[in-house]
Amino acid sequence: MKKMPLLLCVLSCFSIMAQTQKASLPRIEHKNDHYAFMVDDQPFLILGAQANNSSTWPSALPKVWSAMEKLHVNTLEIPIYWEQFEPSPGEYDFSVVDAVITQARQHDLKLVLLWFATWKNGSNHYMPQWMKLQPKKYPNMIGKDGKTVDSPSPHAQATLEADKRAFSVFMKHLKEFDKDHTVIIVQVENEPGTWGSVRDFSPEAQKLFGQPVPKEAMKAMGVKTNNTGNWSEVFGKDADEYFHVWHIASYIEEVAKAGKEIYPLPLMVNAAVRDPFDAGWPPNYQVGGPNDNVFGLWKSAAPSIDIIAPDIYTTDTKKYLKLIELYSESGYPLMIPETHWRAPFPRFFYSALGKGAIGYAPFGLDDQRIRFGEDGEALTDEELYGPTARNFKIFENMQREIAQLNFEGKIKTAVQMEPIDKDADPGSPWDRANYITDTTLTFTGWDIDVAFGRFDRLDRTAHQSEHPDGRIMVAELEKGTFLITGYHSRVMVRPSGERPGISWNYLVVEEGHYENGEFVVERILNGDQTDFGLPFNLPKVLRVKLYERE
Ligand code: DGJ
Repeated sequence: MKKMPLLLCVLSCFSIMAQTQKASLPRIEHKNDHYAFMVDDQPFLILGAQANNSSTWPSALPKVWSAMEKLHVNTLEIPIYWEQFEPSPGEYDFSVVDAVITQARQHDLKLVLLWFATWKNGSNHYMPQWMKLQPKKYPNMIGKDGKTVDSPSPHAQATLEADKRAFSVFMKHLKEFDKDHTVIIVQVENEPGTWGSVRDFSPEAQKLFGQPVPKEAMKAMGVKTNNTGNWSEVFGKDADEYFHVWHIASYIEEVAKAGKEIYPLPLMVNAAVRDPFDAGWPPNYQVGGPNDNVFGLWKSAAPSIDIIAPDIYTTDTKKYLKLIELYSESGYPLMIPETHWRAPFPRFFYSALGKGAIGYAPFGLDDQRIRFGEDGEALTDEELYGPTARNFKIFENMQREIAQLNFEGKIKTAVQMEPIDKDADPGSPWDRANYITDTTLTFTGWDIDVAFGRFDRLDRTAHQSEHPDGRIMVAELEKGTFLITGYHSRVMVRPSGERPGISWNYLVVEEGHYENGEFVVERILNGDQTDFGLPFNLPKVLRVKLYERE
């Protein structure tokens, strides 16, 4: 072996170290019930948007990039289609994957790639044509009535093997092609499960249903493992549903595990969620995916999955918040990979942050014509992108700081629940007792009262939004120092309940933004801008320092 000169060796060692540092894989970290999604070894908050289903084609991508720019996202979620990826058995076409990755880099975006394969919204519509044309080999499910259901059978070994093989090739290619980790998460399948039948009733499935329940499934659902029996004997009325969930989760585990062994990126499964208050009985909702009643089964059957993510499309505020709560307590990090983009729903980005979310992404903003057809509504850029951009523009330069603060459990948020009562007597702006408080966020030594909608200085009912779109985020930087941002809201600070009557004031209220990890002060607010609380008529970031007078 030739000897390398010392300097060259040192340089090359540094370069290898730099590469290794850069090449550190994205990963999830967990401490004291808080999660961080580490990208390049630092907490990262996904300010995302999901492209329309038919947008991953070179002809459609230019519109995607221009929309992403207007939205101020840092991450694009976009599908990879099995039908395009494996046009004939064992022949793979990497052109689309490569184009997306290359162009994402040019636009300085990270990617969450969505593996549309065996399941897409519960159906097999993204299977390659050569599979669709062999329904006996790659079967759909059979319903109780003996009719075919528009959903692939999770018991079909040939389908599983084909998906596993294609997914492994895909992950191997990512490993080789994407050395700088533009792709930060891969979603395995899309909304797996079934609409219209609680499970497969094919002869194959019937046979499995009559067999003893695996001990792991019993344990996962809190059943004593000495009570063995078949699915009906062990789970009674829940047997059909749990059986279907267990087999779908086990199927996806095999696909995920095969890919992860090659390239251990964080893997995600998304859920077509059920009503969090009144789910009804399956198959009223999509059965088989990670619904809130079966997290245990998913955890046990699919340990290769790192993130279980709810797609939230309800327009009911209480249900939306309940879903956030349920999935934030699921034992997985909270990530909302699909949701509404129309105002006032983007305020729930704040709700998600308050529950420690690692990411949030509205759906289908890249091209409205794809979604609604040529005659679809002609919306202005402000109508289309404004509601999301208003959030992300504020967070794009401080997403790392916010992700770090969330990892430390320092963030609290609140959103407006109902439209405000415009006839309410606003009272005197000088009389603090007149200030309406919708909610209070509590911190060490200090309480922060929040009023939504009433952000105007003197006339507290003027210029209010038609929608309940107020939102607020408060992060405790240290005791008595807060980072506050919000929209259509106003905050009033006071010493906490245990310390009433303490004389206090603002030491300084700084308006600014983050740049390379430092808070850059643009101006100091005082006088009318602080005497009536801190109004967030427009989104802005404040660093507020409080002090107690002797
Ligand atoms: C949820 C699915 O996951 C998406 O792919 C898309 O079909 C939306 N529903 C509806 O537009």
